[in-house]
Amino acid sequence: MARGVARLGPRLWRAETRDGRALRLREIRPEDAPALMAAFARQDADDRKLRLLSAMPRLPERMAQRFCTVDGVRDFCLVWEPEDALGALAGGARLMRDAGDETRAEFAVSVASDLKGHGLGRKALETVMELGAEEGIERVWGSISRANAPMRGLAARLGMTERPDPDDRSLVIAERATRP
Ligand SMILES: CC(C)(COP(=O)(O)OP(=O)(O)OC[C@H]1O[C@@H](n2cnc3c(N)ncnc32)[C@H](O)[C@@H]1OP(=O)(O)O)[C@@H](O)C(=O)NCCC(=O)NCCS
Repeated sequence: MARGVARLGPRLWRAETRDGRALRLREIRPEDAPALMAAFARQDADDRKLRLLSAMPRLPERMAQRFCTVDGVRDFCLVWEPEDALGALAGGARLMRDAGDETRAEFAVSVASDLKGHGLGRKALETVMELGAEEGIERVWGSISRANAPMRGLAARLGMTERPDPDDRSLVIAERATRP
């Protein structure tokens, strides 16, 4: 877990990495789109591919705008903002409610390549699941590449069950109740 995670407000948290970098976890905003595109471009190519399950070198502007426009009902997204680089983004986690079953949502999580392994992915995903639970989401699920040991490890540490994706043998589906 990130060192010294503190709740600063109803939807605002602060964490310190083990080497002392302070970051804030807050809701994403429409004006974050350029920062999201820049963060995506800074990611290692392998991490970009694992996040979107495709080899896009750049996040298209329209997609960035869509990712940054959440309504807090159908979708939720929390992002890490470094205190020493305000306005920049260093990853986060989102939930997107299933179209056919509003009690379920797909999760996605990503952390800046140079900040992995400090507990930021775990804290972002745990927190967005708490928000989702408050809004009536009972279960979350995510498609993960079989080769993605860090994400499969994180899912296991969060108590998710894993099953093969029936439509794609290269993927597994991890799933959990939002309230353990
Ligand atoms: C997957 C990802 C989000 C994890 O974020 P992170 O901040 O590095 O992970 P954390 O530091 O929170 O690790 C949490 C747990 O995950 C596991 N984990 C982390 N790195 C791991 C690794 N390299 N191998 C195996 N397990 C690992 C550990 O069990 C860790 O447990 P702990 O909290 O008890 O120490 C990050 O690696 C990433 O952004 N990857 C690229 C994008 C991606 O794959 N997204 C997932 C798409 S669904």
